[in-house]
Amino acid sequence: MSADREHPVVVVTGSAGGIGRSIAVEAARRGAQVVVNSRRAERLVDVVADVERAGGEVLAVEADLRHGDQADRLAAEAASHFGRIDVLVNNAAGLFFAPAEELTDNGWRSVIDANLTTTFLACRAVFPYLCDQGGGTICNLSSVAALRPHPHASHYAAAKAGVNSLTETLAYEWAPHGIRVNAVALGAVLTEASRFRRDTDRALMEAQLPGGRIATPDEVAVAVLDLCLVESEYLTGAVVRLDGGFRGVMAPPDTR
Ligand SMILES: NC(=O)c1ccc[n+]([C@@H]2O[C@H](COP(=O)([O-])OP(=O)(O)OC[C@H]3O[C@@H](n4cnc5c(N)ncnc54)[C@H](OP(=O)(O)O)[C@@H]3O)[C@@H](O)[C@H]2O)c1
Repeated sequence: MSADREHPVVVVTGSAGGIGRSIAVEAARRGAQVVVNSRRAERLVDVVADVERAGGEVLAVEADLRHGDQADRLAAEAASHFGRIDVLVNNAAGLFFAPAEELTDNGWRSVIDANLTTTFLACRAVFPYLCDQGGGTICNLSSVAALRPHPHASHYAAAKAGVNSLTETLAYEWAPHGIRVNAVALGAVLTEASRFRRDTDRALMEAQLPGGRIATPDEVAVAVLDLCLVESEYLTGAVVRLDGGFRGVMAPPDTR
């Protein structure tokens, strides 16, 4: 692993809010130089300020990662600004809930693109830089939806299963280059936009969780960065569950 251990360059996709923002800030707290990303530059103002407050140098890059040329530009701007890329966290995603029989062609494709295509294109974009440096780390944010039924989210579950598969294959293909590729399969996390902000959804979920509470974005960020920055070349190709030990099926959102 060739990472600059003191000040690694960490790229976090889709980091204007939610878990991505927590990962960007936690990376800065650990001394990283951070690249934040959104499809709209104006959405990055707050996270840039948060990262700077946490002591990190930050670069904001507007890019829609469904497009290979924009993913390539994100990697090129990160490498040109900071001189290298040590860590890529593929956090960008998108989801809406609908029974499978009601999904339109566009609805299906939009969720596959937001979760799986963005992840592949960002991995492919950073590969030449990681390769030239002699290594680096990628962490793909996945979901327990990939590991068991996720009612009313068949597109998302399939996309995240694709992310897990991609993780294992890239880990295999890129191990000779010193590139580690892992995924973290998250259970429910209480972000600003989470459906678990609704009292009924939250109560239903918490009643099923062994620890009786939903994860916070900050504790997800700690686990993701531990996995990225661990000094173990052999830790690759893993899909790590971060679900508080919950093994049940999540109920679809309460739409009443
Ligand atoms: N929250 C949970 O309970 C939970 C559970 C399991 C797994 N996860 C996974 O954890 C990750 C973060 O979750 P979250 O709840 O924080 O998600 P989120 O709030 O939806 O944030 C994801 C961000 O990705 C960005 N994005 C979407 N499409 C993009 C594209 N084409 N190019 C660049 N950026 C794009 C969006 O930002 P812009 O609109 O600014 O572009 C969006 O804010 C996701 O991978 C999610 O699937 C979350």
